[in-house]
Amino acid sequence: MEDKKVTIIDLIKKKKNKEKITMLTAYDYQMARLIDEADIDMILVGDSLGNVVLGYGSTVPVTMGEMLHHTKAVRRGVKKAFLVGDMPFMSYNISIEEAIGNAGRFMKEAGAQAVKLEGAGVMTSVARKIVEAGIPVIGHIGLTPQTTSKLSGYKVQGKDLGGAQDILDSAFALQQAGCFALILECVPSALAKLITRNLNIPTIGIGAGPHCDGQVLVSYDLLGIVKQFRPKFVKRYADLASQMKNAFSDFKKEVDKNIFPATEHTFSMNEDLLKKLKIKK
Ligand code: KIV
Repeated sequence: MEDKKVTIIDLIKKKKNKEKITMLTAYDYQMARLIDEADIDMILVGDSLGNVVLGYGSTVPVTMGEMLHHTKAVRRGVKKAFLVGDMPFMSYNISIEEAIGNAGRFMKEAGAQAVKLEGAGVMTSVARKIVEAGIPVIGHIGLTPQTTSKLSGYKVQGKDLGGAQDILDSAFALQQAGCFALILECVPSALAKLITRNLNIPTIGIGAGPHCDGQVLVSYDLLGIVKQFRPKFVKRYADLASQMKNAFSDFKKEVDKNIFPATEHTFSMNEDLLKKLKIKK
């Protein structure tokens, strides 16, 4: 029997029924398969790709080509989860035509079911135009990593009245523009609660407290693979960095001592056949 695929209607229903939505990032086929098998509702091919996989210092250098390449790999691993492609910096900022064209590439070339873009203000009309072109959009407000220099770094957003009002207004504007969900990153829990209670579309929080309709984490953070960077909102459900490093050094030790490969890892050959081989120097 075919696995039932998660749809936008399922996500909206979850909000109505007060059931939590789960979302994780993936960047490759194997990770996507495991996340999908764990019944996570949504998979985001985040532009966090730049930090966690490609080793850039930020998400800014990530290109459309890189995003499409990784989204295609993830697509091949996903059976049920709703797949979202993250629009990289400057793929939707230059013109509406380019934004719609790039959003369309996520759907047509990489098999994404929606795109996510950061920001409100002028980006609200970009989101609206992409939605009008028939492409589902998730908004992303609060801390928006593509423009952290503008926001003076990786900090909690909306702590003062002006900032909080701005985030609240942006949430309504993006809903009005047709976004079907909204990511809230690094905002105070009480503000996220107010937004969540008053929007019809689901909110998905990262560093936005427990009242959002859903939660998203970067899978490498959750797995404890990334050690250099640990924001307050990350919970590590595993310590894979240590396990991986131990496995790599055990491999080295065993190869050095000729313990690996053992008989069970080795292919045998008929001795008589071996004797018949001629060495031609
Ligand atoms: O790129 C990403 O992984 C994201 C999440 C943090 C929401 O935007």
